[in-house]
Amino acid sequence: MSRKKIVAGNWKMNQNLFEGKQLVTDILKRTAALELPENLEVVIAPPFTQLELAATQLKEVPGHFLAAQNCHQEASGAYTGEVSAGMLKSVGVAYVILGHSERRQYFGEDEALLSKKTDAALSQGLKVIFCVGEPLEIRDAGTQNDLVRRQIEGALFHLDAGQFGNIVIAYEPVWAIGTGRTATAAQAQDMHAYIRSLIAARYGTEVADLTPILYGGSAKPSNAPELFACPDVDGGLIGGASLNADDFEGIIKAAF
Ligand code: PGA
Repeated sequence: MSRKKIVAGNWKMNQNLFEGKQLVTDILKRTAALELPENLEVVIAPPFTQLELAATQLKEVPGHFLAAQNCHQEASGAYTGEVSAGMLKSVGVAYVILGHSERRQYFGEDEALLSKKTDAALSQGLKVIFCVGEPLEIRDAGTQNDLVRRQIEGALFHLDAGQFGNIVIAYEPVWAIGTGRTATAAQAQDMHAYIRSLIAARYGTEVADLTPILYGGSAKPSNAPELFACPDVDGGLIGGASLNADDFEGIIKAAF
């Protein structure tokens, strides 16, 4: 079995229902004209309000999957404003993004909470795109590996090997998100190889070799080919450039 490649578009809090419908239509028009490799998945992560409609648009389109940008850790109950993993599953969602640096920064999400959210997602049969990455001061201090290790250990390493098979890691250096500043291919490869070594030490090389590790942070059509050519970079989690169908297509092509 070979490792999957994934190009996922994280729309964040962008696109109303009508704009989002058009964007999915535009993306599908472009990907229909491509011969997507069998091991490549295109994932779209729109806001909650878009999920059900996007699910109908993506239904039965091979190689395309829907992701949510968050879920609550409980199955149901008095949590006004929240959405559970089971609700996401019921509208046709396949993945949930957890641990995004914006959730950590603005909503105070930490490893203890993310570990519970991961359990909630997996228990409903969702796969998790789990984001890790260091802020600039940690990169400048050279301690990024320690931080990323703590993020992964703290939220994911209680899982058993079977559960871990449903985890995708996204390395997103915070200093590269939405800043126009991308990690170099060498910086990405070093971190991705380190992450894979952590997974190998915990779960063995077979699990580590099958775990997709995506890069995120100002990825665009111009820099994606070099990043995706790195042996341990298995695609990308794309923010800004995923809102433009031409750019998203360019990045998807770089993952062929
Ligand atoms: P960006 O965002 O591509 O706009 O830098 C990436 C992300 O936050 O997932």
